[in-house]
Amino acid sequence: MLVADRVLLTSEQIQARVRELAAQIEDDYPDGPLYLVSILKGAFVFVADLARALRRHSVRIEFMGISSYGSEKTSSGQVKVTRDLDANIEGCDVLIVEDIIDSGVTLSYLARLLQQRRPNSLEIVTLLDKPERRVQPVHVKYVGFRIPDEFVVGYGLDYAEDYRNLSEIRVLSEVTSNE
Ligand code: PRP
Repeated sequence: MLVADRVLLTSEQIQARVRELAAQIEDDYPDGPLYLVSILKGAFVFVADLARALRRHSVRIEFMGISSYGSEKTSSGQVKVTRDLDANIEGCDVLIVEDIIDSGVTLSYLARLLQQRRPNSLEIVTLLDKPERRVQPVHVKYVGFRIPDEFVVGYGLDYAEDYRNLSEIRVLSEVTSNE
């Protein structure tokens, strides 16, 4: 049986770190507009909090859908866009907003793709980073928390589409029943 009873990051810890990240981002982008490109679905909670923590900017919210070909994402590195941006980002300051970076396959693909659209700047912010799992190198400017290689859920992250609504991050683990 799978349970998510261990809290890795509380809601308070996450909110405090989101405010710190927002302050850093404000300093780095003194003039707007700033495009936040959020990757569906997992980043929807983080982008909502991050956007509201940014005060001094014209902040534009964009969404992208990405999926793997088959189920071989981490080994094949084959990803495709299932929902593209509404905006033309040429000449714009763009920040990709992710919930978690694992192998780096999704982000390295996406960064290459968006760079071809000639933004003025392109950086990445991720709430969570699992550096131990990296297969493809990715330059990530802003990292909320570096976490160990454990399966985490909550704050947008799912297991089989459940748990995204939790306001904290929990570790999903297997327990064996004694009954
Ligand atoms: C997660 C996460 C990233 C990707 C990171 O998405 O949101 O997009 O995996 O993994 P990688 O570094 O190994 O490429 P997921 O595929 O779980 O989709 P979801 O956000 O819709 O849940």
